[in-house]
Amino acid sequence: MGLLGSPFFVAIAVVLGLLLNVAILCNGGKTSTFVRKVEKTVDIPLDSDVFAVPSGYNAPQQVHITQGDLEGKAVIVSWVTEDEPGSSKVRYWSEKSKKKVAEGKVVTYKYFNYTSGFIHHCIVGNLEYNTKYYYEVGIGHTIRKFWFVTPPEVGPDVPYTFGLIGDLGQSFDSNKTLTHYEKNPRKGQTVLFVGDLSYADNYPNHDNVRWDTWGRFVERSVAYQPWIWTAGNHEIDFAPEIGEATPFKPYSHRYHVPYKASGSTEPFWYSIKRASAYIIVLASYSAYGKYTPQYQWLEEELPKVNRTETPWLIVLMHSPWYNSYNYHYMEGETMRVMYEPWFVQYKVDAVFAGHVHAYERSERVSNIAYNVVNGICTPVKDQSAPVYITIGDGGNLEGLATNMTEPQPAYSAYREASFGHAIFDVKNRTHAHYSWHRNQDGYAVEADSKWFFNRYWHPVDDSGAD
Ligand SMILES: *[C@@H]1O[C@H](CO)[C@@H](O)[C@H](O)[C@H]1NC(C)=O
Ligand SMILES: *[C@@H]1O[C@H](CO)[C@@H](O)[C@H](O)[C@H]1NC(C)=O
Ligand SMILES: *[C@@H]1O[C@H](CO)[C@@H](O)[C@H](O)[C@H]1NC(C)=O
Ligand SMILES: *[C@@H]1O[C@H](CO)[C@@H](O)[C@H](O)[C@H]1NC(C)=O
Ligand SMILES: *[C@@H]1O[C@H](CO)[C@@H](O)[C@H](O)[C@H]1NC(C)=O
Ligand SMILES: [Fe+2]
Repeated sequence: MGLLGSPFFVAIAVVLGLLLNVAILCNGGKTSTFVRKVEKTVDIPLDSDVFAVPSGYNAPQQVHITQGDLEGKAVIVSWVTEDEPGSSKVRYWSEKSKKKVAEGKVVTYKYFNYTSGFIHHCIVGNLEYNTKYYYEVGIGHTIRKFWFVTPPEVGPDVPYTFGLIGDLGQSFDSNKTLTHYEKNPRKGQTVLFVGDLSYADNYPNHDNVRWDTWGRFVERSVAYQPWIWTAGNHEIDFAPEIGEATPFKPYSHRYHVPYKASGSTEPFWYSIKRASAYIIVLASYSAYGKYTPQYQWLEEELPKVNRTETPWLIVLMHSPWYNSYNYHYMEGETMRVMYEPWFVQYKVDAVFAGHVHAYERSERVSNIAYNVVNGICTPVKDQSAPVYITIGDGGNLEGLATNMTEPQPAYSAYREASFGHAIFDVKNRTHAHYSWHRNQDGYAVEADSKWFFNRYWHPVDDSGAD
């Protein structure tokens, strides 16, 4: 009999296993033991299939949609024509309605020695809820046709499935993440995108051609379902050394959001209602201190959330407040200090962030007792607090964040350095099923999952509900 089969070896293995378990329990949550094959994250070459330019003179490309109003009855359709302005009209119809036309507008911008194509933005409004619409952009021989489904009317018990993607970029891993999202049997209906889109700024002179390639890459999803945009640091494109000193220039020309509908004065923070969720998008890279526009807006916004109408209160931001990786460590701290008491007061259900290129899920914790002199500055379990999730693992060329702080802090429930995406699947006013999907697994596999109990309607401890 070999050593492996001997009772002695088994006993040792059991003891070691127990010790390992104890060690994990002492330090907060779980650091996944999943071993990912170490590979370099490489950007997709310009001549690859995902970047193909649609055929035909001046054909619309980089088609993308997002919610166009506060409640989900409008869509902003955006696209680019490269050769000439062409038409900014969108023709749209449902099975029940006749063809209608909406007229948009066209913008362009220059960035260093790059000149953009003609970027069209068209608001298609007064749509019926819960309806499939077809739409066409372009003229003559180069009309392109797509479709989308409007959300159900805003209300407390409408089920709805959100996808979560962050820090996507345009590498081979990015393409895997997007493919896994598309093939996930849980079928996301809208993507909550937590910032860092194209990573064009990693190229010489922020080569804006990579903004265009990114637009073509994600079209296969975002032309058919809205992606809700959050601005990350890779959207800033602040480069005074090449004469580009206007922050967010490429991003704000290309990605329009319905910020005015929620009383915001800038496109970087805003909110929308969608089905049974109220989604607040915050700006990690716009001023958020007291008296700033974002602060004033959020202070007025949170009391407006009516949990009888929208039970689920979700916040998106780029830089996470609770992050136990040695990357971007504590970068979210100043914003946390400003806003965390409000999140607890208004019982936010979940906060999704990106920035750190890995995955992490927190316990329900808060850290709001500190007052400079009392020394109370450790996160504590708090049933009024949100769960914080870092989902910056889309797969961009900068690669994975693997270096974690040790020991794992008690607030951290699960962490793993793998690329992937997540799904937040709202069932009704009390229950939402959350799952994280790593790219190495089959499409249906949930590498981490938990039930969320709504903080307003069912505020009981959900930490063990997986
Ligand atoms: C912009 O400048 C860079 C560096 O000088 C050069 O490689 C690139 O070809 C230029 N692009 C255009 C569109 O002129
Ligand atoms: C990207 O993924 C799609 C869908 O899985 C596939 O058809 C395509 O070939 C991939 N392209 C690259 C460059 O990986
Ligand atoms: C909250 O929403 C419910 C359901 O739509 C509505 O009946 C109620 O009047 C709203 N409350 C406030 C304060 O607006
Ligand atoms: C991990 O990060 C810590 C803190 O920044 C650093 O001291 C350490 O050298 C890093 N370890 C590795 C393997 O990079
Ligand atoms: C809400 O959804 C959960 C999970 O699907 C289910 O167990 C529960 O019974 C539902 N509640 C109501 C009132 O339907
Ligand atoms: Fe980032």
